[in-house]
Parts: sequence; structure tokens; C-alpha cells
Amino acid sequence: MDRNLAMEVVRVTEAAALACARLMGRGDANAADHAAVEAMRHAFDSVDIDGRIVIGEGERDEAPMLFIGELVGGREAAQKCDIAVDPLEGTNLCATGAANAISVVAVAERGKFLHAPDTYMEKIAVGPAGKGVISLDRSPTENLKALARAKGARVNDLTVVILDRPRHRDLIDEVRRAGARIKLITDGDVSAAIATCDERTGVDLLMGTGGAPEGVLAAAALRCVGGDIFGRLKFRNDEEKERAKKMGISDKDRIYTIDDMATGDVMFAATGVTNGDYLKGVRFRPDGADTHSVVMRSKSGTVRYIEAFHKFDLKPNYDSTGVIGKR
Ligand code: FBP
Repeated sequence: MDRNLAMEVVRVTEAAALACARLMGRGDANAADHAAVEAMRHAFDSVDIDGRIVIGEGERDEAPMLFIGELVGGREAAQKCDIAVDPLEGTNLCATGAANAISVVAVAERGKFLHAPDTYMEKIAVGPAGKGVISLDRSPTENLKALARAKGARVNDLTVVILDRPRHRDLIDEVRRAGARIKLITDGDVSAAIATCDERTGVDLLMGTGGAPEGVLAAAALRCVGGDIFGRLKFRNDEEKERAKKMGISDKDRIYTIDDMATGDVMFAATGVTNGDYLKGVRFRPDGADTHSVVMRSKSGTVRYIEAFHKFDLKPNYDSTGVIGKR
């Protein structure tokens, strides 16, 4: 894939973040999500790719835009690729103005992303120091000990991020007994998975069950920076199992490796919507707005942070519905 595509893709996450950030703290998660989706969908039109959404807003009959199978991009250069998106990862975080809401896009060659059904996935994710030492087959305690050994640290030096959900009661109890520190989050496990790769965040490990599509997005990012993630699908009912079957998933207990979820030449871009552990949120000024993004490529391992100022007089502005218009 053309390496410049990574820089194009960040425009798409910037557009989505600018649109939904207008609705930060307004208490309307759906409106914020809608604004991000519209802006992202529109921004894709100017990217020169023949893109196919494989992780998106849902099935065609459920989502009017960025649905699974939708073709996006200018398509002139016919650079065929698969696309995983979450225009607003952490809709409630944005609606309440809480930390770590981000807009995310990952791009790979055709067929290189797991077509994950919209169900839950049990996950464990670490940064590069933990690659090769963690496993979903082991207990949380064993994983913590293995990671501590690999980092030359003690278990009680480690910080684990876990979604604050009743389903994680046993996991939280065990991690507490093992002695590690815990950061309970209300939402946003893609952001938490990426945080394991950035020493500045102080996050060592993500554990627990979140969305399966989010697992694929996290895998794309971790592949770029040399981290690791494993995932196992968790179905809530027979309908979800049936849906997974239709998507070609026959072994329901399979543990997916990072390469099973995102392989080949992968690009990943994210823009902060609200302030977070490693990305600043959108800041509006009278004449425009600042955005903070990260762009990564698996081929080179380069991680770029991009601070941009968007001048609304000179370029289209995304208003609170995500519709493009000049101020
Ligand atoms: P949304 O952006 O769709 O609101 O998802 C946020 C999120 O917290 C994800 O980061 C996580 O994987 C998933 O929801 C967890 O699902 P649930 O809220 O059902 O526990």
C-alpha cells in the first residue's frame, strides 16, 4: 500500500473527531456518534482508494453509512483495501466529556482483517515488552507474573486496565489478589489497548471482555507498534452465534492471535475527541480548531503524532451534525 495513504487517512479521523467533539458533554451519545459517522463517511470520498468497510457501523440493514461491505473512497487509483472504522470509539465518553474518546480508522490489504461479528470478545493486550509472554489460555495471575518477569518489574508495579462491568467481578478480584494496580474505565478499550504501548501512559495490560470489532481495531494498532493481543469471541445468545456462522466463523472457542485479526501491511490512525492518556482532545478556537492524532504503519513501525490547526475560513467546517458547510 502507498505509504502516503496513512497521511490521507488521518484526515478522515480528524474530520470525524472535529464533528463529534462539537457535541462533547451534551449528554447525547447517539447524536455525537451520528455526527462522527457522517463526517467520516464524507471525508472518505476524497481519499484515493477502492476501500471496502469490513469493520463498521453494522450490517447494511442496520446502518445507513459505513456499513459492512460499503465501498468508500475516490476509487480513481483503485488501491484496493479493507477498512475498519470506529468514527467515535467511546460514544458515552464524548457525551459526558470523559477522557479517551477517539476516532479510529485502520486500513489493510484486502482480506487481511478478521471479519469480526458484532459480539463480545475476551481480550488481553500488551505493549512490545509483553509480546510472546501472555496468553488467553493462562489465568490472569499467571499472565501478570509473566509480564512482570518480562518487564523486570514486580506484579504490584503493573497497572491493568479493565472495563468497569459486572461481568468482570471475578477478574477484578483476581487481579487485586495478585497485587497489581487497576484502572477501571467506563468505556473505550481500543484506547486502553493502545495505551499499553506508550510508556508515558503507565498502562501495562488490558484485560477483560469488550466489543469484538474493537478487538480488530486494537490489533491493527498493536501490530504497527509491536504489541500483542489475543481475543476469544463471547456470544450473548444464539442469534449472535448464528450471525458469526454466516460470517464464516465455525470454531466458536478459537483464540485469535494478533495476526489472525490484522495481518499484512496495516495502517492505523486515531484522532483524540476528548483529552486522553496519549492524545489531546479537539480544542475549538474562534477561527478554527486544534486536533491531535497518531498515525502508524506496520511496515515501517513509524509512529507519528500530528498536531493540526484547522482554519475554518479556508477549509470546510464540520458542524454538529457532521454535514460539511462553510462558516
Ligand atoms: P461505543 O463507542 O460503541 O459506545 O463502545 C464503547 C465500548 O466501551 C468499547 O470500547 C468496548 O469494547 C465496548 O463498548 C464494551 O461494550 P459494553 O458497553 O457493552 O460493555
